[in-house]
Amino acid sequence: DVCSSDLPTGSGRRATVIRKPVVLITGAGGEIGHGLIAHLANEGRHSVVTLDVNPLEPSLARLVQREFTGSIMDTSLLERILAEFEVETIYHLAALLSTRSEFTPVTAHQINVEGTLNLLEFAQREAKSHGRPVTFLYPSSIAAYGLPDLETKRRAGRVQEDAFNTPSTMYGANKLYCEQLGRYYAKFYKQLAAEPQSGRVDFRSVRFPGLISALTVPSGGTSDYAPEMIHAAAKGEPYACFVRPDTRIPFMAMPDAIDALLALATAPRASLSRTTYNLAAFSASADEIRRVTVDAFPEAEFTWAVDEKRQAIVDSWPADVDDSAARRDWGFLPKYDRVRAFDDYLIPTVTERYR
Ligand code: SER
Repeated sequence: DVCSSDLPTGSGRRATVIRKPVVLITGAGGEIGHGLIAHLANEGRHSVVTLDVNPLEPSLARLVQREFTGSIMDTSLLERILAEFEVETIYHLAALLSTRSEFTPVTAHQINVEGTLNLLEFAQREAKSHGRPVTFLYPSSIAAYGLPDLETKRRAGRVQEDAFNTPSTMYGANKLYCEQLGRYYAKFYKQLAAEPQSGRVDFRSVRFPGLISALTVPSGGTSDYAPEMIHAAAKGEPYACFVRPDTRIPFMAMPDAIDALLALATAPRASLSRTTYNLAAFSASADEIRRVTVDAFPEAEFTWAVDEKRQAIVDSWPADVDDSAARRDWGFLPKYDRVRAFDDYLIPTVTERYR
């Protein structure tokens, strides 16, 4: 494809450059990025360009066309990517998670909000330059919810997208706002301008529950107790769980999370009635996760060492969410319920991982 916004050359002449159509993944070295890169590479239909503050592991780097090591805050780096690549789809995964964000709220806001704004603006400009909408996938979170107390949480049951949008964390507030920012770009961007400019960013977002991967462990999240328990047991290390046994939130196995992002990315636009969708696979208490883990790893040593402050954050998240809109609009259907997540994915894969 020939780029319409030609680049100036060093001598001041304008040169027509050839840009390659690609998928861009930010935060590519994180947990979701791992699975996503593997899947896209395996499919072989799209070239992948990545942006992450840390270099990718060699096994991942091998699967991508180009790896940029740098920050989403570096607009000149985004400029370079714009000049060189025709980005058709963006998976904007870079973020600071909920526990880490509470220690550095201003940095969290910069990365999570200003960083997302940079990527939305980048998408707008990409779409303008190649003349087609850019599909923008954004992982939001159950942290976008904030339930006031345990009694309300118990009564609320499966929470719908528009209820309890009163998060108690910086991360949750950032996610909720960026959902709105994405919706603004998709539907109302520069609505007073003479020429319509909205619709160039085809923003699509999911609120993930706690994600559990057998291949990686999260860093800086508050739902981390579940994956930490499983990985510690598989490694034969003792684990002290930082929430109460009865703590309940929804979870999802990582392969279902990857499949959901890919399914939403390819859904016909006309079938989408919202820009943000709840997703869930199974709701489980910390004690249920401990029990299935001990069944698989009978030597595992668990204790409870409740951190009241992190507990309060998880208590403010729903016990389950209503994901019927995602099922109806774009056919979301998780493969792994609690039993299958452990029996068919987590236990065998994590065992293999530490063998
Ligand atoms: N798993 C994330 C966290 O704990 C929530 O999106 O921060």
